[in-house]
Amino acid sequence: MASKTDILMIDPMPESFNEQLGTPFRLHQFTSVETLGTLAERIEGVTTGGGSGLPRPIMDRLPNLKIISVNGVGIDKIDLDECRRRNIRLATAQGVLTEDVADMAIGLMLDVVRGISCNDRFVRAGKWSHEPVANSWTIKGKKLGIAGFGAIGKAVAKRALAFDMAVAYFSSRQQTDTPEYPFYPDLRVLAEWADVLVLCVSGGARSYHMVDQSILEALGAEGFLINVARGSVVDEAALIAALQGHTIRGAGLDVFAEEPHVPEAFYSLDNVVLQPHRASATFETRHAMGRLVFDNLAAFFQGKPLLTPVI
Ligand code: GLV
Repeated sequence: MASKTDILMIDPMPESFNEQLGTPFRLHQFTSVETLGTLAERIEGVTTGGGSGLPRPIMDRLPNLKIISVNGVGIDKIDLDECRRRNIRLATAQGVLTEDVADMAIGLMLDVVRGISCNDRFVRAGKWSHEPVANSWTIKGKKLGIAGFGAIGKAVAKRALAFDMAVAYFSSRQQTDTPEYPFYPDLRVLAEWADVLVLCVSGGARSYHMVDQSILEALGAEGFLINVARGSVVDEAALIAALQGHTIRGAGLDVFAEEPHVPEAFYSLDNVVLQPHRASATFETRHAMGRLVFDNLAAFFQGKPLLTPVI
């Protein structure tokens, strides 16, 4: 019997996925670089989440690594130059999580603009019978600026039209397939125009702190910020100051700079809605993502083309 290929899992994968993968591969859950021992030389494939990526100290310990299969779309925590230098293939779970992530962006927008979570806390605290309830704001007719107009940004735009929102976007280049949406080559100008700014850009050096104090100022005291991209895209200290000082109206955040650490300053603010990086985390989508991670690995080790290659 041919020996099984050793795969290192940086993040745990769903049990159903382990069973599927358990047939052609031998799976190992990563715990630490120190405990890898002689297993390190046998590892030929890695699975990991978009948020975890593959830190260089682990990558450098795997001399026979041939493929990284990402259970997500983010590749900002993977050294792409090193992948190319070492001829390591890279695949992501692109395509299957677009709709859920767009839904989360819309959900966060509705929640913070309408005060849903805030009012939920109000009711649970037994305040309704003796305290006035604050009004929220309407979505209809608001201007939605989308930063990052890939598949997820476009799916957010499509949903926003159903709310009668005006939509425009910022991106590194104008998209040819969506002439119906105005393109803003300058994020600050888009932020000035928008009532709600949704971040759908890729993480990494190019988008690091793309939303800083000046962009928050441009968004202004009636503006809302929604982040389903990466925590690194936003200067969190500037955002906290803007929320505390009401120089923006509110924020909905699925991602943070130092996950799972969330700055405690957010906890006491009623104008922010917080999620523990859940945008793609539905049973259906996580299953489809796991399947794609598996199918990419299987294709690679059978000498077939990757289904969703990056490199
Ligand atoms: C999640 O954050 C992903 O990269 O898919």
